[in-house]
Amino acid sequence: MTLRIGLFYGSTTCFTEIAAEKIQAQFAPGEVELFNIKDVPLKQAEQFDVIIFGLSTWDFGEIQEDWESHWPDIAELNLNGKVVALFGMGDQVGYTDWFQDALGMLHDELAANSGTQGCTRIGFWPNQGYDFAASKALIAEGEFFVGLALDEDSQYEYSEERIQKWCDQLKAELASV
Ligand SMILES: Cc1cc2nc3c(=O)[nH]c(=O)nc-3n(C[C@H](O)[C@H](O)[C@H](O)COP(=O)(O)O)c2cc1C
Repeated sequence: MTLRIGLFYGSTTCFTEIAAEKIQAQFAPGEVELFNIKDVPLKQAEQFDVIIFGLSTWDFGEIQEDWESHWPDIAELNLNGKVVALFGMGDQVGYTDWFQDALGMLHDELAANSGTQGCTRIGFWPNQGYDFAASKALIAEGEFFVGLALDEDSQYEYSEERIQKWCDQLKAELASV
């Protein structure tokens, strides 16, 4: 059975949007549908079997603006039985004390809501090859990010490889859920 994958992102200066397109390109044509949350209600995510959420961190640990305006909608989502993966954009040099904080806040918000607690989370990403002071996006005693952490400001040279590896990881995890 082919799974329907929906990728929902918010992006202020297009970096998350470009990453979303690169993630889409790692899958078969038509397998991943992209949605800018500026244009569609978050509720639309419920139509998919697998949901990828993408967002950037802004202004010293704040959520990207479109996500901020949709934030209350997260509590209304029913993601029971869905598979969910997250990715984030940040800058570990310029904002070393807040690296990827919004990614962690989205993870926490999803975990806190009863409608989303029945979802399976995949796509955790090892915290290796990064250099920053603090991040709210870490779990497992700091060993993993709660999703793919991309940094187009300070480590753009790693992004392509990270996206490819993460998508391979998602495919392997999806094969066993
Ligand atoms: C004013 C400003 C504030 C930022 N604040 C943070 C931050 O607190 N933490 C972080 O990891 N990245 C921060 N960044 C980096 C952005 O997340 C990064 O540039 C990202 O690629 C933007 O993605 P977008 O264009 O899709 O919104 C900031 C960037 C700017 C310009």
